[in-house]
Amino acid sequence: MSGKPVCIADFEEYAKTFLPKSVYDYYCSGADDQETLADNVAAFSRWKLYPRVLRDVSVMDLSTSVLGQRVTMPVCVAATAMQRMAHPRGETATARACQAVGTGMMLSSWATSSIEEVAEAAPGGLRWLQLYVYKDREVTEALVRRVERAGYRGIFVTVDTPYLGRRLADVRNKFQLPPHLSLKNFSSSDLAFSSGKDIGANSGLAMYVAEAIDATLSWEHIRWLRGLTSLPIVLKGILRADDAQEAVKIGVNGILVSNHGARQLDGVPATIDVLPEIVEAVQGKVEVFLDGGVRKGTDVLKALALGAKAVFIGRPVLWGLAYQGEEGAKEVLQMLKEEFRLAMALTGCRRVEEIGRTLIRRHRVLFSKI
Ligand SMILES: Cc1cc2nc3c(=O)[nH]c(=O)nc-3n(C[C@H](O)[C@H](O)[C@H](O)COP(=O)(O)O)c2cc1C
Repeated sequence: MSGKPVCIADFEEYAKTFLPKSVYDYYCSGADDQETLADNVAAFSRWKLYPRVLRDVSVMDLSTSVLGQRVTMPVCVAATAMQRMAHPRGETATARACQAVGTGMMLSSWATSSIEEVAEAAPGGLRWLQLYVYKDREVTEALVRRVERAGYRGIFVTVDTPYLGRRLADVRNKFQLPPHLSLKNFSSSDLAFSSGKDIGANSGLAMYVAEAIDATLSWEHIRWLRGLTSLPIVLKGILRADDAQEAVKIGVNGILVSNHGARQLDGVPATIDVLPEIVEAVQGKVEVFLDGGVRKGTDVLKALALGAKAVFIGRPVLWGLAYQGEEGAKEVLQMLKEEFRLAMALTGCRRVEEIGRTLIRRHRVLFSKI
């Protein structure tokens, strides 16, 4: 890349050049053959926009709300683990970037900065916790209590990870955290995933998940969480209408249509392709969000046209952090914001509420190379 990045791919190219290979591999990989990884991005191109014209788009408002909180745009930051591998300030830099832009950040349970450090770094920012359910319910409950105390505004429970997906590069690299880092939300060294353990021929993280994360995860755990906290709860990793309906029955506040950035089960559909059926299934009773493959302003517009309240981005923020820490993450968010503003204007939308289903149609793919 020569000169300043002008699109998200430019940030990724920078990260690929300058991050250690095992770190870049961990960040970019999907599961197995990475079919879904490619499709998450490609699927957006199968949806075409039908712009309205002659609508005076000289004044625009991109703001909206997420779980009752105002954000300056419908693009928020998804949980990505171990951000201090991308930049020494890691999650605290991301939190400051989100605060500066006026959007929300989902902090990973597996952050390399603690819940409290992140809150202190950006006290005016909007934050949610991404929660992994641990075998030890007291460990899980302690995370919930800490975010309640630290002013987080909701919990995204990851429901697609009873075991870690097979990311081949991580297995080959025997991926582990660099020795100076640990999962800062845990004090016990068993749960902090610090390096140095004998991991055999495997990804260290896959072993960690098998040991610590609750593979009995079921609807019962969601009912338990619902009784545990009055914070809004969103299920992260729903891909089916029946699961979405079950979630609504239990009383969750939102659904994040997600395939975990294609890192869990390979061969699942692109999230944008399943979004319409989930939106239809929940009938407006809860907010529906999407993540996976969002790389352009038009992707954001397409997801909103299909009924998402907002989208979340994962890898682009890591590329921004690798590029220039807080400033880089801010640039990524601002770039998407400006692209989204242009996409709205060129489809004749002045406010987010004007983005609707008539703007978009799925084009059939008649011939494919496969
Ligand atoms: C490096 C990396 C780490 C991730 N860590 C977590 C995590 O700790 N918890 C979680 O629920 N999802 C995690 N995810 C998934 C993201 O929250 C999100 O679903 C995904 O990145 C969205 O896709 P995108 O990267 O194409 O934007 C991770 C994704 C990546 C790329």
